[in-house]
Amino acid sequence: MMNVWVIGSQGLLGSALLDCCLQKGIQAVGTSHGEADICNLEQLRDKVNEIKPTHIINCAAYTNVDGAEKDSKSAFAVNCEGAANAASVAKEYGARFIHISTDFVFDGKGDRPYREEDTCAPINEYGKSKWEGEKKVLEIMPTACIIRTSWVFGSRGKNFICSLLGWFQEREQLQMVSDHKGKPTYSVDLAEAVTRLFNAEGIVHFANSGEVSRYQIAMDLWEAMKQKGIEIKCQSIQPVPSSQFQAIAERPSYSALDTSKYVSMTSFKPRPWLEAASEFLDGTFKV
Ligand SMILES: NC(=O)c1ccc[n+]([C@@H]2O[C@H](COP(=O)([O-])OP(=O)(O)OC[C@H]3O[C@@H](n4cnc5c(N)ncnc54)[C@H](OP(=O)(O)O)[C@@H]3O)[C@@H](O)[C@H]2O)c1
Repeated sequence: MMNVWVIGSQGLLGSALLDCCLQKGIQAVGTSHGEADICNLEQLRDKVNEIKPTHIINCAAYTNVDGAEKDSKSAFAVNCEGAANAASVAKEYGARFIHISTDFVFDGKGDRPYREEDTCAPINEYGKSKWEGEKKVLEIMPTACIIRTSWVFGSRGKNFICSLLGWFQEREQLQMVSDHKGKPTYSVDLAEAVTRLFNAEGIVHFANSGEVSRYQIAMDLWEAMKQKGIEIKCQSIQPVPSSQFQAIAERPSYSALDTSKYVSMTSFKPRPWLEAASEFLDGTFKV
């Protein structure tokens, strides 16, 4: 019988994945950072013997993009060495291994959605640590599956759309970056996609459909909230170039992921991000 171990189950994706498994009747166990630290190989070995998983899904990561710029050692310890530890334990135990990675492995200079085989050339420390982690995972376990995703939002953890909903209630005016584009991805849809890839191998991209800037996301959500009758303090949203914001880490200006491999592997098409976000709003504001 299948038994899934979700490492990092208190994060944005990990929590959605654990819920998704349980809803589908798939036996699953989640561990928090405190219960299983991927930087601690012995602790992982103890846990694997206790849980006896058939599948190990590594949702644990150092995800603070600006923090990684200042403390790349910590980012590499988790996203590279930690990922390698999780892969080693899966290999030793004979479990299938799925690792989660990011659109930030690309440099953002492309002009069409990135495919799995496109060249990785990360431009910040977070992206570099994730790219090195991918390589280590595949070196240790060539049969592993690596799912790259982008701009994840959902009810748990820090994410752009949750921040945006807060700003809508607090501020009358907002300025949003209009010259960076990507594909927002709902944690619930991503979790569902992960379950469809439980027995997959190699790199696969998953994101909701629709390439948008942060400005476009704000405009679309603002409109959706007004239509749903949700009260908003914000009266206007201005598009601004990224050069106007002094973020510590540089971000790829274009990082849309091509999901056609996922579609051909699973026969499921990712839904538009706004449809997913509308469902998220309904849950958040109990419309
Ligand atoms: N969020 C996005 O926009 C996005 C985009 C592309 C790809 N991804 C990838 O998606 C995956 C899931 O990220 P997420 O969005 O769910 O991030 P998240 O909400 O920050 O969750 C990451 C989880 O990992 C845990 N963690 C950190 N260090 C750990 C360690 N050494 N051992 C065990 N657990 C540890 C964290 O626990 P603590 O908080 O207690 O430290 C947290 O619960 C990651 O691989 C990330 O790179 C995310």
